Amino acid sequence: MRAIDIRNKYLKFFESHGHKVIPSAPLIPENDPSVLFTTAGMQPLVPYLLGEKHPEGKRLTDFQKCVRTVDIDEVGDNRHLTYFEMLGNWSLGDYFKEESIRMSFEFLTKELGIPIEKLSVTVFAGDEDAPRDEESASIWKEVGMPEDHIYYFGKDDNWWIAGEEGPCGPDTEMFYDTGKEPCSKDCNPSCSCGKYVEIWNNVFMEYYKSKDGTYSKLKQQNVDTGLGLERMNMLLQGKETPYDTEIFAPIMEKLSKLAKKDDITSRRIVAEHLRSSMMIISDGGRPSNVDRGYVLRRLIRRMTRHLNKLEIDLNELFGLIDLNIDNLKEMYPDLAKNREIIKQVLIEEKDKFMKTLAHGEKEFEKAMARIKSQNSQKIDGQTVFRLYDTYGFPPEVTSDLAKEQGFEIDMEEFQKLYKEHQEKSRMGSEQKFKGGLADQSPETICYHTATHLLNAALKIVVNKDVHQKGSNITQERMRFDFSCDHKLTDEEKQKTEDLVNEWIREALPVTVEEMKKEDAIQSGAECMFIEKYPDIVTVYSIGNVSKELCGGPHVKNTSELGTFKIKKEEASSAGVRRIKAILEK
Ligand code: ALA
Repeated sequence: MRAIDIRNKYLKFFESHGHKVIPSAPLIPENDPSVLFTTAGMQPLVPYLLGEKHPEGKRLTDFQKCVRTVDIDEVGDNRHLTYFEMLGNWSLGDYFKEESIRMSFEFLTKELGIPIEKLSVTVFAGDEDAPRDEESASIWKEVGMPEDHIYYFGKDDNWWIAGEEGPCGPDTEMFYDTGKEPCSKDCNPSCSCGKYVEIWNNVFMEYYKSKDGTYSKLKQQNVDTGLGLERMNMLLQGKETPYDTEIFAPIMEKLSKLAKKDDITSRRIVAEHLRSSMMIISDGGRPSNVDRGYVLRRLIRRMTRHLNKLEIDLNELFGLIDLNIDNLKEMYPDLAKNREIIKQVLIEEKDKFMKTLAHGEKEFEKAMARIKSQNSQKIDGQTVFRLYDTYGFPPEVTSDLAKEQGFEIDMEEFQKLYKEHQEKSRMGSEQKFKGGLADQSPETICYHTATHLLNAALKIVVNKDVHQKGSNITQERMRFDFSCDHKLTDEEKQKTEDLVNEWIREALPVTVEEMKKEDAIQSGAECMFIEKYPDIVTVYSIGNVSKELCGGPHVKNTSELGTFKIKKEEASSAGVRRIKAILEK
């Protein structure tokens, strides 16, 4: 059986038990800036777990593309992955523990043919927030699970919630016994020695955890389950790692052939990060210096570093991408559709990184020589920060390089300095709202100036009380949220677009001046969050059409912008509309 066969079997099984198959949501959540990536199948379903009616009914199943990056530094060992696929089935206020456990048991033992002796389960032991889950334990016994294969654990093991707040509840987890010797006489499924591998998690979501840490009952009792496909595939094939299965084997073999200096950890990192970045790019992610973009940048940079370590010619990347797409396109047809853009983004980012590396590595060596001469084992945060700030050298690369020489970096001090720097910087928190201007590429700078023009145009065309509510800029497009009580008419959209283009054609100069915050406000300069600005502010003016408090940077003249095009106008939240627009050169 291959991974795709397990996926198909799963969906078919739950379909035959009355579930509707729904499509995987994109890896990049559209309307949820609070999370970087989709990390679990339940995430796109939160409104329905809270009681909203799902158009497909109360029983759903899907495979969900997921990215989890907390363990990014562990990738390269035999189990951690940043990208994985989660198979899931949901009851939205329909069945609960009994049917859920029975279906899981049937799927594992009948459909996948796993012998009962290989299975163990855990259930919630109970505490002051929720009772001991005797019900799940007795259902497990009824279906035939031997009593000594049922374990009780507390919240750390048997309670599931995505993050700090939200729908949650006790879970029952299923484990596969790999047959390895127990590590001690107390070895059990909560032990990480590798004998027991978690394969499925059924969460009985009937609580809501609030920000203040209190629990309340949800309107309905839900079931949310998640089965890690790569892991199940590996176990059923009797393999030690996911890299030995058909998902990674072709690329692992190719890397081994190409490597002049083989190293299995590096090969795994390249294979894993390549798949992960391809999936993110295919779903619209692009590298940048903030948030999601930065995760993608880290993945590509780390992959590039390990290709270097393997002494593989970086021009081989083209072929490696093709090989990976061809291997995975049956599972993810979008990869083949997006082949060209995946290549373009990966290659461009790799090239950019090579330039940074060449520069930074020299500085790193100098810093190392100094640190060695001081007999220290740790690279101080100041040095790590200087490498980052002056040479664009990412801290994780410094850390990787340091590790190779048996050194550590003072990440804590780095983080502190980084934060201080951000706060001091005039852009400060403004930067976050303006959508990551830390990425100061010529494209994003153009979009930044276009944002000011759009803001000014909307005031003229729609209403003088239109105000900016947020914005997000990538190298490919801009997104602008503004206060407005109605959907823009076609005429309003056209007029706004025309006005911005007129200002671009007029080649208006962009000028900047420093002034006291009060004076800036007095002069009528536009600003989003006045309390977030320091006493002395910078004000950018574009001809005499726009004046805004802003940290910049901007183009010198609007003639640099190209042609402005509104691609979409939609609701963002109550009383807030969103425009997506591009600049065509
Ligand atoms: N949401 C649960 C998990 O991710 C099923 O484990």
